[in-house]
Amino acid sequence: MSETPTPAAPHGELVIRTIAMPADTNPAGDIFGGWMLTQMDLGAAIIAKNLSRSRVTTVAVDGMAFLNPVYVGDIVNCYATVVKVGRTSMRIDVEAWVQRGKDGTFLRVTEGVFTYVAINEHGRPHPVHRDR
Ligand SMILES: CC(C)(COP(=O)(O)OP(=O)(O)OC[C@H]1O[C@@H](n2cnc3c(N)ncnc32)[C@H](O)[C@@H]1OP(=O)(O)O)[C@@H](O)C(=O)NCCC(=O)NCCS
Repeated sequence: MSETPTPAAPHGELVIRTIAMPADTNPAGDIFGGWMLTQMDLGAAIIAKNLSRSRVTTVAVDGMAFLNPVYVGDIVNCYATVVKVGRTSMRIDVEAWVQRGKDGTFLRVTEGVFTYVAINEHGRPHPVHRDR
């Protein structure tokens, strides 16, 4: 299968770096899309949590695209960029890239936009910037 053309370099802050393991595969031996989505969600949540200095919850995932397969042994890197801060919500663009094989080929594998809401101790939305 041919690989989807990939831009030269990732955008955003490196938020997750891990290795795809055999336990994360589907029956065909490739990495589950759901595992990739989890890594991206965790990485973007770190940004949202730091930005709002509070608990956050994922309210939406848009434009999720699986561009290239991920294989066991790939080094998975997630990069996140804040694209919009609302009153209580934050939209964060996430790209995942892998480093593969002995030559460390760098390939973009997934992308998506994750929206978080800053929440209080009762799980209800509160402003991202509570001091304004
Ligand atoms: C997130 C949650 C607290 C929001 O509660 P709510 O009563 O819908 O709150 P609001 O209508 O005031 O919306 C809060 C913010 O979220 C945004 N929002 C709500 N639904 C959205 C959606 N589907 N997509 C994008 N943004 C959304 C609103 O625009 C608002 O943003 P703003 O304050 O920046 O303008 C509530 O929907 C919830 O608890 N959802 C479950 C979250 C969860 O369990 N996630 C993990 C899934 S396993």
